[in-house]
Amino acid sequence: MTSRYRVEYALKTHRRDQFIEWIKGLLAVPFVLYSQPQGVFEGQDGSLLLQTREEAHRRYSEILRDVELMIDDHIVHQNDSQNPFPSKLKLLVPSIGPFFTRLPLEAAFKLQDGKRYISSRRFVSPSFNDIRLILNTAQIMAVTTHGSLQLATFDGDVTLYDDGQSLEPNSPVIPRLIDLLRKNVKIGIVTAAGYTTAERYYSRLHGLLNHIANSTELTSVQKKSLIIMGGEANYLFEFDTTAEHLLRPVPMDEWLTPEMATWSEKDITSLLDVAEVALQDCIKSLNLPATLMRKDRAVGIIPLNPEIRIPRESLEETVLVVQKILELSTAGRSRRVPFCAFNGGRDVFVDIGDKSWGVTVCQRWFSAAATTGDGLDEGKSFIKGENTLHVGDQFLSAGANDFRARSVGTTAWIASPAETVDLLDELADLMDKKIC
Ligand code: IMP
Ligand code: MG
Repeated sequence: MTSRYRVEYALKTHRRDQFIEWIKGLLAVPFVLYSQPQGVFEGQDGSLLLQTREEAHRRYSEILRDVELMIDDHIVHQNDSQNPFPSKLKLLVPSIGPFFTRLPLEAAFKLQDGKRYISSRRFVSPSFNDIRLILNTAQIMAVTTHGSLQLATFDGDVTLYDDGQSLEPNSPVIPRLIDLLRKNVKIGIVTAAGYTTAERYYSRLHGLLNHIANSTELTSVQKKSLIIMGGEANYLFEFDTTAEHLLRPVPMDEWLTPEMATWSEKDITSLLDVAEVALQDCIKSLNLPATLMRKDRAVGIIPLNPEIRIPRESLEETVLVVQKILELSTAGRSRRVPFCAFNGGRDVFVDIGDKSWGVTVCQRWFSAAATTGDGLDEGKSFIKGENTLHVGDQFLSAGANDFRARSVGTTAWIASPAETVDLLDELADLMDKKIC
């Protein structure tokens, strides 16, 4: 790699979502051509302002409609195994992945424009966050009005509660999750936080767990429709009113997929050994105020004390270094055991498996439980990607653990627990409209 390329790669690629950046570029053209910043100095009568806004709205809508049609074409390509040629979208955005549903982007833009006044802006062009939220809205429109949502999975930190905090009884997320359960949507909390005991998950999620336990409006089946998938894909707990801490630890042989059952303890240990050495080296070479934490299914570095914040650049460097070392190691190259190295905001962890496996287990658990009454049963039809929505905050490709869930279901990318609340309100609205 030339040094320029390395700088571009190291500083930019993993911090950019190419699809969002591409849409942003498309919308920048009408913004430049139709926004009227000089109106602030020259005075602009109301009718001209309205006209400008309507023109910008029309142009943005048209572009998003065109992207929507391009996604439709991409879906046709992805479903046609005989066609060797890439879709137009794939040529324009090489990193684009599979879509589980079409995305009604034009309708989603209209809804978000009504909330965020994107077309009324004269100085600030449609931003990364505008487009991220338009994509989220389009996705939840697709899984509600065009399809039916059967499973919603949620990341923990930053999605359900602030980083490192817990789901307290007064959290506004709780009544919205209960509402989903009442509508017979299954819920999986798919978190990287890896604990072997129910007690630790209870201490993070007690607000929700107690609320469900005390609820008189949920049926016993709806109450059982909450599971916790911890350590990305390593520990499964099922809500159970009779269990200690309201969570029944589910033995691995009840939920491991056939592929996961082939991950040997020996391979897991050698992968974590390589990661441990790489993390130790980063602590030394970057002089990180951090200490190593080794678990049975993960290894990470955490700050020496809770007051210390390791610089973001050091955390990202650590993730990229460790990821590269693992990919090139014998343990990593064999690909027998998948792993996920990510920047948790304050720490770095390497986990065995990733959230694509975690969400897959949820998809299998609930469909099997629905038909057999308990556990996994091969040969059953599992909840599909198009009926699954994973909500998380980490979607920038390198070192982002929610990103992996994209390969098994639809996703929504939020930036705070408050955005999760907004998203769940939008979702409830659309589900209610469908029922009416
Ligand atoms: P998530 O956002 O719910 O996926 O949780 C990620 C955070 O969980 C990390 O940033 C860590 O602070 C914390 N954590 C605790 N134990 C583990 C572990 O075993 N692996 C990864 N993250 C962990
Ligand atoms: Mg998170």
